[in-house]
Amino acid sequence: MNHVLFESIQLGSKQLDNRIVMPPMTRSRASQPGDVANALMAEYYAQRAGAGLIIAEGTQISPTGKGYAWTPGIYSDAQVEGWKRVTDAVHAQGGVIFAQLWHVGRVTHPDNIGGQQPISASPMKADGVKVFVDNGTAAPGFVEVVEPREMSVAEIKQVLGEYRQAARNAIRAGFDGIELHAANGYLINQFIDSESNRRTDAYGGTLENRLRFLDEVVTAVVNEIGADRVGVRLAPFTSLNGTEDADPIETYTAAARLLNGHGIAYLHIAEVDWDDAPDTPLSFKQGIRAAFEGVLIYAGRYDAAKASQAIEANLADMIGFGRPFIANPDLPARIREGLAWAEHDPETLFGGGAKGLTDYPKAAPQ
Ligand SMILES: Cc1cc2nc3c(=O)[nH]c(=O)nc-3n(C[C@H](O)[C@H](O)[C@H](O)COP(=O)(O)O)c2cc1C
Repeated sequence: MNHVLFESIQLGSKQLDNRIVMPPMTRSRASQPGDVANALMAEYYAQRAGAGLIIAEGTQISPTGKGYAWTPGIYSDAQVEGWKRVTDAVHAQGGVIFAQLWHVGRVTHPDNIGGQQPISASPMKADGVKVFVDNGTAAPGFVEVVEPREMSVAEIKQVLGEYRQAARNAIRAGFDGIELHAANGYLINQFIDSESNRRTDAYGGTLENRLRFLDEVVTAVVNEIGADRVGVRLAPFTSLNGTEDADPIETYTAAARLLNGHGIAYLHIAEVDWDDAPDTPLSFKQGIRAAFEGVLIYAGRYDAAKASQAIEANLADMIGFGRPFIANPDLPARIREGLAWAEHDPETLFGGGAKGLTDYPKAAPQ
């Protein structure tokens, strides 16, 4: 049963034990001040090292790239040292771990970025979107985002440099590679989608122009650490954080072709975020398979049977199980043995300590 999930697969220079991915999940438990990964996070990820591939939680590439309180960064030396503990712990368990490089763009509040106005492709507010702040004066809580400022071309170049440095830092911290977070309405997604990019320069207007920022970020990180250590995550159909594209099939098939030209290790498609679960058309998946020759990962409400079917149908090579990995540290073993999956506690997803992070038990021996 589900044997196809346990066939090994080559990802860049790594031979992975299985096709099961732990996709990136923000858990907001970095040490303060400084947004530093810590021993608790190392334990959490090491418990889940049975995944063929772990993609660690979204990690800001700069102070301005931060969207929520207590998420980890990867721009300071202390942050690199913090992540070393995590990667060492995962490697000690035989796991493979990539960092997810994150710039939130407009999906933040001045309280999270030192009082500045957030930046984006265009000065367009993500209406109704809320982020979590801890400004030290009041009780931490959710606040609505504000209108961002349009990035100048000089600022775009600066952020490209931040991505490049973050990729270098990730390798220094012992990660096996990086995933660019180009999904879920964050900065790269804000450039890609027609409804959040109103620029009239080389970074907006035509599809080619809307993909230029993605293209340049990928070029920067590939030049820095090599294409075999780079993956990209896209979310073609979800509208999380207020980004939508008028023609997602055309846009994201073109994005897959562009990424194929860079020879990156994998393309990761997020089909679902929370309850926003639009259908991903079969014809689109077939188009992505034709456009992209590297490893294809899909995530979003998969169970073991659906995951096996996607691989057997040759639509996917690996499948991410997000929420299931929270409450089931030994998820691959449970899939292999056909054991029941525990449910996670929604109250302990973000912030706090060990409760709801490292205290979910393995399945009892049968
Ligand atoms: C608590 C939580 C935090 C998440 N944080 C991130 C993140 O940092 N980066 C990202 O790309 N996706 C994030 N996601 C989305 C997941 O990677 C995944 O795509 C989503 O949960 C759907 O998969 P599932 O139905 O198997 O949970 C998060 C999801 C959850 C539940």
